[in-house]
Amino acid sequence: MSADPSSFASAAKCVSRHLNLSLHVDFDSRTVRGQVALTVEVLEERFSVLTLDTRDLKILSVRANGQAARFTMGPKHTFKGTPLEITLPFDLSRGQHVIVEVTYETSPAAPALQWLTPPQTAGKKQPYLFSQCQAHHCRSMVPCQDSPAIKHTYYAQVSVPKDLVAAMSALRDGQDVDPHDGGRMVYRFRQNVAMPSYLIALVVGALESRQIGPRTRVWSEAEYVDRAAFEFSETETMLKTAEDLAGPYVWGHYDILVLPPSFPYGGMENPCLTFATPTLLAGDKSLSNVIAHEISHSWTGNLVTNETWEHFWLNEGHTVYLERMIGRRLEGEQFRQFKAMGGWKDLQDSVSTFGPKNPLTNLVPSLQDVDPDDAFSSVPYEKGFALLYHLEELLGGPEVFMGFVKSYIQMFAYRSVTTGQWKDFLFAYFKDKMEVLNKVDWNAWMFTPGMPPVKPHYDTTLADACIALCRRWSQAKDQDLSSFTASDVKTLSSHQLIEFLSLLLQEEALPLSHVKKMQEVYDLNGRMNSEVRFRWLRLCVRSRCEEAVPAALRMATEQGRMKFTRPLFREVFNFEKYREEAVRVFLAHRAAMHPVTSGLVAKDLKVSADQ
Ligand code: BES
Ligand code: ZN
Repeated sequence: MSADPSSFASAAKCVSRHLNLSLHVDFDSRTVRGQVALTVEVLEERFSVLTLDTRDLKILSVRANGQAARFTMGPKHTFKGTPLEITLPFDLSRGQHVIVEVTYETSPAAPALQWLTPPQTAGKKQPYLFSQCQAHHCRSMVPCQDSPAIKHTYYAQVSVPKDLVAAMSALRDGQDVDPHDGGRMVYRFRQNVAMPSYLIALVVGALESRQIGPRTRVWSEAEYVDRAAFEFSETETMLKTAEDLAGPYVWGHYDILVLPPSFPYGGMENPCLTFATPTLLAGDKSLSNVIAHEISHSWTGNLVTNETWEHFWLNEGHTVYLERMIGRRLEGEQFRQFKAMGGWKDLQDSVSTFGPKNPLTNLVPSLQDVDPDDAFSSVPYEKGFALLYHLEELLGGPEVFMGFVKSYIQMFAYRSVTTGQWKDFLFAYFKDKMEVLNKVDWNAWMFTPGMPPVKPHYDTTLADACIALCRRWSQAKDQDLSSFTASDVKTLSSHQLIEFLSLLLQEEALPLSHVKKMQEVYDLNGRMNSEVRFRWLRLCVRSRCEEAVPAALRMATEQGRMKFTRPLFREVFNFEKYREEAVRVFLAHRAAMHPVTSGLVAKDLKVSADQ
């Protein structure tokens, strides 16, 4: 067991087995008042002090097995928050359990929570609350052992104003009028599969839902429900494909919640209820790989979990691998290879943004004194995928390697793992191919910054058209521009258009005349697909196209997915003439932004906390 550098809790001393939550959501004060009863199992010989993670929480009282317990708050750490030390009024020994009840209140600034006013919602009439606990923010919503090494079940009762609906990362267990307040409803939830704290999730809003499959509903404000039902209609097919690849789906339901536009990620694999950005609603199901990705986390991440955030690649690398295996079953091997090659390019972009010597580009970085939010990038996803794909090539191809992944899932299900355990299992599984495994430069792959030591091979059939068109544009002189016509992109799929734009973004900035011509012949301003629009606006700003600046800042603020918002702000910031404009727009929107997003954009734009 390695210590968790992102938590004050010690999984060696004791582990939480179950959480019983009673939460009261108050939109007026922007707080959640609650009580959590943690069932804790002792692992030490003699035990009397329990340390929980908290962040910006007001702790009102603590009881242990019904008796009042003394508690103290330690010093506040910048990103770990404040340790809560509870002294039990009795000693316990190994194997015993204790129920510790903490009564507390969250802060309006809790980084796990975004409180939206009615104007910030689609319906404009009701407020909205959602949580995002991964990686280390659960502690600002619930005092707990906030480490992915520790797994527990949970039960929750959530009281909300009666016109609103609550949903959580669990199965629904009924609802009733709040016995203490007839103007409120209590919603109940149960999660009977042990899971890490970062998968606790809560949403409260004017939610509606529609069933789209035998175990799937889409949830959102009324305005999005039909679009969501259409966009995600392949969910059951993907779930069945994933089960065929990875084993039975153990979580019961798989629902999808489409959040308001400020949701900071594309998707979040909250058990039983994936959270998704509305920017996936392209109208043509072309961004459904994000759902394949979140479905895949039901095995890699939620069943087999990284022991600390230093081993985050185990979650994301395997999940991208499974996501692309689902893509292979549904669209074919060439499509998988096309996406894999796109992933290598995303890795190059991340390595060049961080710098090739930056230790955060290690597959397994040290997070000692590093905020997990600052470490986040495509590296764990795409260096992780590249390693698995490279091993697949060496060890006998997709079927053979998928056998390993399935067996790894069976081996470590319901547990948390380190990279070392993963590697030991790999060597045990492929014990007949030891000479192959011993040729891999493990130290370079795992503990060295920059690009991997080996580039895997990719079939370029679907990428060739993108590569050729990118080359034509980057080599064209002003007088050659008349050779470009709308038919250049007529036969490209939206995946290929995205790839074409990504390739151009890796080249020297195009002359302004080129992007103007590109708009004239391809009308990219008219494309609403968020992945297309994001790359196109970056390309225009980089070519110093002034008309694109307001559009880029609009996209950066009208939706808040960090993958789009951060690079768009940075791109405008790097356009000297509009640097101040980027900062001004950020400051004007800051208060209404998601707390994690605003913190990271502030760092990107070198804006101080009190500016
Ligand atoms: N679990 C992640 C999102 C996340 C990671 C949130 C770390 C907080 C901290 C989720 O599964 C994810 O990877 N989403 C991607 C999807 C993409 C890789 C298909 C996203 O948000 O874009
Ligand atoms: Zn993921």
